[in-house]
Amino acid sequence: MATSKAKKDLDWADLGFKYRQTDSRFSSTYRNGVWSQGELLDSPMISVHEGAPALHYAQQCFEGMKAQTAPDGRVLLFRPDLNSERMNQAAGRLMMPQVPYELFIRGVEEAVRANYAWIPPYGSGASLYIRPMLIGVGENLGLRTANEFEFRVFVSPVGPYYKSAGLAIISLAVSEYDRAAPAGTGAYKVGANYAGGLLATKTAHDLGANEALYLDSAKRTYIDEAGSANIIIAMKGGRFVTPKSNAILPSVTRRSIMTLAEQHLDRIIEDRPVDLRKEIGDFEEMAACGTAAVLSPVGKVWVDGQWHTFHDNGESVGPVMQKVYDLLVGIQRGELADDNGWTHEVRID
Ligand SMILES: Cc1ncc(COP(=O)(O)O)c(C=O)c1O
Repeated sequence: MATSKAKKDLDWADLGFKYRQTDSRFSSTYRNGVWSQGELLDSPMISVHEGAPALHYAQQCFEGMKAQTAPDGRVLLFRPDLNSERMNQAAGRLMMPQVPYELFIRGVEEAVRANYAWIPPYGSGASLYIRPMLIGVGENLGLRTANEFEFRVFVSPVGPYYKSAGLAIISLAVSEYDRAAPAGTGAYKVGANYAGGLLATKTAHDLGANEALYLDSAKRTYIDEAGSANIIIAMKGGRFVTPKSNAILPSVTRRSIMTLAEQHLDRIIEDRPVDLRKEIGDFEEMAACGTAAVLSPVGKVWVDGQWHTFHDNGESVGPVMQKVYDLLVGIQRGELADDNGWTHEVRID
């Protein structure tokens, strides 16, 4: 498909993190055990039956990815194979059909290519957010798996998730609500986890924090994750730690950061349960990480009625997180050598 090279006339530096309707979205339907070829649609609306399991029983999952413009103009995705794999894990958990990688990546690439004009230019600090989703549609009143499914990919240009540009220092408040049960759906990107988190986020905002921080729901002792990001910690004494839990989303960003930390920081890397109250005094730097959050240093955390601050009393970004951020973002934007082969170019012509 011929794609115009012209860009939309947007204030790229001031997009915020919100939905903007773009020109096209990709859609494929699963009926009688077969996925349709898929097509680009103009309308952002989905017409589904009122009995659709996605609406009643939250039989749906989704992904979050970004496309970025490199200095040489190439359009880069970051590790889309891991998003595809994670979507299929969620599909399996919710008894939905697998979306073959070929269909997943074609849907993502077609949606990105068709909306080339909406991809923020290099240097703007913005990116094209990509939202693949899989929903159970068709009529089905009983609690059974849907008989039809839609795989859809839409995109929207976005700025930073937290308001300030670049490396925003954020705060977290330990939630009194649980995000996910130990053998529940916490490790999957399914909508039900997020509806339950809305009130936790609001409560965190009321305390003056950017996000909720969840502890494990069995013991309320170990760090699970933040509302939309995993946690990484640079400990005093040199270890670089990420909380291990089978109830958290296996973040693509966090897995990449741990690899980069191992390759480029002179530190011992650990993926293990972290007892918040016992260990918080040993935290030198803490950060939240994810596709939307990128890497956001945590300046302070609200625990049991008081704030705990980290590096420089939460006033400045610490050297470890700055280094990890620079490495990660440099690779994602095509500025640094991609030695691990993580970026995936979407060819525009
Ligand atoms: C609950 C939760 N944890 C972690 C993440 C980070 O995952 P990823 O790095 O794959 O975007 C997300 C999504 O961005 C999320 O929604």
